[in-house]
Amino acid sequence: MRNGLLSYAFATAVALLLPSGATAARPCGGSSGGEFQYRLGDVRYDGPDPSKNNDLATIAASLQSSSQTPLYECVGQWPEVWTGWYEGGSNLVWGDCIFTGAGTGQDETVSFAVDWENKTMYLAHTFACSDQQGSQGLATGSIKLDVNCTTADDSSYCVPKTTSSGTRPNLNIATKLVPVPANTTSTCAAASKQYQSWKVEQWQRRFKMEPGASPTNPKLSADTGPSFTLTSTANGNTFSCLPSEGHEGIFVGSCKASDASTTTADFVFDSHLNMLKISEHWKCDDSPTLDIAGVGYMQAACERVFNSDEFTCTSGAVWVGTGVV
Ligand SMILES: *[C@@H]1O[C@H](CO)[C@@H](O)[C@H](O)[C@H]1NC(C)=O
Ligand SMILES: *[C@@H]1O[C@H](CO)[C@@H](O)[C@H](O)[C@H]1NC(C)=O
Ligand SMILES: *[C@@H]1O[C@H](CO)[C@@H](O)[C@H](O)[C@H]1NC(C)=O
Repeated sequence: MRNGLLSYAFATAVALLLPSGATAARPCGGSSGGEFQYRLGDVRYDGPDPSKNNDLATIAASLQSSSQTPLYECVGQWPEVWTGWYEGGSNLVWGDCIFTGAGTGQDETVSFAVDWENKTMYLAHTFACSDQQGSQGLATGSIKLDVNCTTADDSSYCVPKTTSSGTRPNLNIATKLVPVPANTTSTCAAASKQYQSWKVEQWQRRFKMEPGASPTNPKLSADTGPSFTLTSTANGNTFSCLPSEGHEGIFVGSCKASDASTTTADFVFDSHLNMLKISEHWKCDDSPTLDIAGVGYMQAACERVFNSDEFTCTSGAVWVGTGVV
C-alpha cells in the first residue's frame, strides 16, 4: 500500500507530537457484555513491488472511530508465499495497529493479522478494565474480506469489493472478550487450552547505517539486535529479553524471568523481515513440556542520533498473539 504507507508514516508522526488522548479503558464485565466493534476504513493488499525485487506483500488497514476518522493504522508485511503465516506454517504474523492521535482511543494495544489464503482478517485489542481496577482485558475477533484484485504492470493490489450500488462496503469487526481463568494453572493440559499471547514493551535496537545507503538497500553495521520486555497475558509472567550476537541479521536471544516463573522464554528476530518470533516453554506437572510460539511484524521507528551515523529504534507496546483467535 504505497499511498497508505505514506499516510501511515504521517499518522505516526502526528501520534508522536500529540499527547495521547487515549483513555485506554473499556468495561470488561457488565454493560457491553464483553463485546466490542471496530469499523474498518481503507483496506488494501499489495503484492510484491517488482522494482524492489523482495517478494514482500504488504497489507494495510485503518480502524475508524465512531466519527469515522482513522483511529489506528495497521500495517503488516511478509514474503508473499507465506500468505500471512510465519514461514507458511501455523503461526499468524501479527502486526501493530498504531494510534493516529486523531480522536480518543480506548485501547492500549491493537494488533491485526491476515490469513490471505482465506482472506480473513483477525483483530486483537487490549485495554484496562474500567470496571475492575488493575485488570486488563483482551478482546479478539475476525472478519472475512471479499476482495477485488487488479493486476497491472507486473504488480497487483486488492481492495474490498464495492457494493452493488458502487459504494464502499460497510465493514465491521466484532470482537469479544477472551475469558481469563480465575486461577493460573500448572498443568500443560489446562495451559494449552488457554489463549496465549504477549505484550512486547521497551523495544530497543541500535545500529549504524553507512552514509548514502538507500532505505531500500541499507548497509547496516554494529547492529545490537533488539532488547525488550515480555509479559504473558495468559499467566502474567514477565521476562527481560536480550539478544546474543546476530548472524547475517538474525538475532537469537533468551529471556530472563523477573521472578520464579513456571515458564522460560526465548526469541528469534529476523532484521531483514522485521519478524519477531517469541517462544514460551512451560514445565508442567502433567507432561514434560509445552512450547507455545507467536510472531510479530515489528515496525519499530528508527531515528538517527544527532550528528552520528548511529540509529536507535524504539516502539510502543505491541501485542503478539498465537494462532487463530
Ligand atoms: C481456511 O479455509 C479452509 C477452507 O474453507 C478451511 O478448511 C480452513 O480451516 C480455513 N483455515 C482457517 C485457519 O480458518
Ligand atoms: C473491481 O475493480 C475494478 C477496477 O478497479 C472496478 O472497475 C470494479 O468496479 C471493481 N468491482 C467491484 C465489485 O468492486
Ligand atoms: C481457584 O483456586 C481456589 C483455591 O485453590 C479454588 O477454591 C477455586 O475453586 C479455583 N477456581 C477455579 C475457577 O478453578
